[in-house]
Amino acid sequence: MSVAQDYLGRMAWLVKELNRHIYNYHVLDAPTIPDAEYDKLFRELQELEAAHPEAVSNDTPTSRVGAAPIPEFRQVTHAVPMLSLNNGFSDEDIDNFDRRVREGLDAGQVDYAAELKFDGLAMSLRYESGVFVQAATRGDGYTGEDVTANIRTVRVIPLRLHGDDVPAVLEVRGEVLMFKQDFERLNERQREAGQKEFANPRNAAAGSLRQLDARITAQRKLRFFAYGIGLLEGAEMPQSHSAVLDWFERLGLPVSKERAVVRGCEGLLGYYRSIGEKRGALPYEIDGVVYKVDRVADQRALGFVSRAPRFALAHKFPAEEALTVVSAIDVQVGRTGAITPVARLVPVSVGGVTVTNATLHNEDEVRRKDVRIGDTVVVRRAGDVIPEVLSVVLERRPTPEPAVYTLPAQCPVCGSHVVREEGEAVARCSGGLTCAAQRKEAIRHFAGRRMMDIEGLGDRYIDSLVECNLIHGVADLYKLTLDDLLKMKRLADERDGTTPETVKQGKVATKWADNLLAAIEASKRPPLERLLFALGIRHVGESTAKTLADWLGSLALVRRAPAALLRVLPDIGGTVAEAIADFFAEEKNQIALDALLETGVAPQGEHAPKAALRERLDEVQLLAALGIPKLTEPRARQLLDGRTLEDLAFLKVFGVFGLPEALVASLESWMAVEANREALMKLSSLRRELLDALPEEAAAPEGALAGKTFVLTGTLPTMSRDQAGALIEAAGGKVSGSVSKKTSYVVAGVEAGSKLEKAEALGVTVLDEAGLLALLGQANQ
Ligand code: IVH
Repeated sequence: MSVAQDYLGRMAWLVKELNRHIYNYHVLDAPTIPDAEYDKLFRELQELEAAHPEAVSNDTPTSRVGAAPIPEFRQVTHAVPMLSLNNGFSDEDIDNFDRRVREGLDAGQVDYAAELKFDGLAMSLRYESGVFVQAATRGDGYTGEDVTANIRTVRVIPLRLHGDDVPAVLEVRGEVLMFKQDFERLNERQREAGQKEFANPRNAAAGSLRQLDARITAQRKLRFFAYGIGLLEGAEMPQSHSAVLDWFERLGLPVSKERAVVRGCEGLLGYYRSIGEKRGALPYEIDGVVYKVDRVADQRALGFVSRAPRFALAHKFPAEEALTVVSAIDVQVGRTGAITPVARLVPVSVGGVTVTNATLHNEDEVRRKDVRIGDTVVVRRAGDVIPEVLSVVLERRPTPEPAVYTLPAQCPVCGSHVVREEGEAVARCSGGLTCAAQRKEAIRHFAGRRMMDIEGLGDRYIDSLVECNLIHGVADLYKLTLDDLLKMKRLADERDGTTPETVKQGKVATKWADNLLAAIEASKRPPLERLLFALGIRHVGESTAKTLADWLGSLALVRRAPAALLRVLPDIGGTVAEAIADFFAEEKNQIALDALLETGVAPQGEHAPKAALRERLDEVQLLAALGIPKLTEPRARQLLDGRTLEDLAFLKVFGVFGLPEALVASLESWMAVEANREALMKLSSLRRELLDALPEEAAAPEGALAGKTFVLTGTLPTMSRDQAGALIEAAGGKVSGSVSKKTSYVVAGVEAGSKLEKAEALGVTVLDEAGLLALLGQANQ
């Protein structure tokens, strides 16, 4: 075959292949290739076309901006086409862009409006005399779909523009997207309802928008950020893009705060880096940043080349998805025995990091994605989370087809049965702490930096200690002797074939072992919350541990607190409360904890329960927290009505209180269980005991912010919300999680969401970080 035919064949193939992917991505919302792979093919085609302009075919994807819309929605012709952006990837690409702009304008340094490249769906919103009349998707750039009814349900989009001075016609261009948190929640709901989960927030936003029934869209939390003007009539066009965005903000349109005006290539790269650092902390996904020449007159002078403006460039982040092949599927055994299938991958670079393993989450996930050994898969690495397998490229499945994956029936570490309880997604090894894998993980967790913080006790030593049978539970750590450690080290070195020369010569290094023993000793007085976190109670993370420590004050009280008491503490729900109470009720945990305390481990700084606990010991709340089926808080109030919890424990018949029949039946069968009756009595006496021990009136907090309640929302510029909260509390103020009429101030940072809206609606004073600091500054005077 001649060289000429070679490139013709390649170009034809690229056109066909890219068109197919565009169709899958834009029309079907079912991507068949990672963006990075697509971009690579696209660039290859662009280069070939530039080298052989005579061979450019008329259906080349480089000449169009998308694919035809799906037919169900009414079609809308865009008055001004919705084009796309050229992409840049390297510093050099940005330098070239800036140079071309300067040459085109015959200018020295150029000011650019820099903003985020939102990873959502492009949308055009039409306002006539300030009233929202139409929303259209991009479609193929010239014709889109009428999604007015769906967009009307997006709460952040104003149905009427703010202010009196509104243009006759304004078409706003922007991006519809879903926040990461809303996406997680949606998937949780989908999972619970047995419905299909979405692969990422972008797909979830697309799926939610493409609903013929707008009521479904209304249940999905879609957002919008405006980034440009399509059409403007009856008003003067602002002179710069940055002024357009400021104007949008005044009109009540959501605009991201992460925008800036920067100068020259250096300014652009500085912006790119600063956003790159913030990316993970943003509440939504972005796939890069966008630079636009700021002056509108300059934009017009530069104009467009075929599919994209010359005055703008998208600077994309390195791809976080890549294609590779699954070489094996193994399982890992976690701290709680959870069996997690893990795909072993042919090493691949994802966003600059080599990935060799990716989690498959659980059995259902493997089934849903139908991942098999030998499959080509899309792997994704977002931020510093564990890489995951997103989907299988079915077209590349080897023939004959590999077998469907099934989880092993026995734990690969200890051979115990693998069990999966009804309604649980996770399968577990039934070996408990007899399983070395679970023991290792439990000890690893216990010794971790944010838990007991035993320095120098790395994974390798933990593995060896468990394998040599030197430690069975965490208490054994505190019984280790120098001899034990030296024996462990000798065995570990032998096993790994790394015995040092000096040791072979008969010398024994003991300094490391002395240091480790000292570190173990030093870990014996942890703050209570760290000890609680270290115990590895299911569902108890750092923040729940802190709540327990702050409110209950002592390990002794945490140990004996029934679930109903735990449940009335802030941010502790039913599942978590049950998990904590179950943990401490379990005999083997009691033995392990007593053994630990016997070694001299003792939490430091224990204190009496928090005075504010008094309010939470309300009998109605406690009764409702018992988890009696059908017993809601209002019903609990009706039932108590002058009676005490103890009174109730002596009742057998509940038909006389005017309660609904179903509830009466539920109460009677609950009370018929002796253990429940006892639990009620115990709860009541613990309540009484706590009330007696608590100070009568919560002492009025001192400090200048005493009596003031704050709600923190969004990302603050120089400190974390926790730090800000600590400052407020130190000045006597209170920090709450939700906005109400009683809130004194809302401190809002970047991307503050519904709390800010609520504050505005309720007329609560909103401060930024500087405002808060000013208030604290006054407070300190
Ligand atoms: S401006 C003529 N600004 O990227 C230029 N687009 O490849 C019109 N996008 O379809 C686009 N964030 O969906 C612009 N800040 C931003 C953007 C942005 C995301 C998307 C948009 C567009 C695609 C262009």
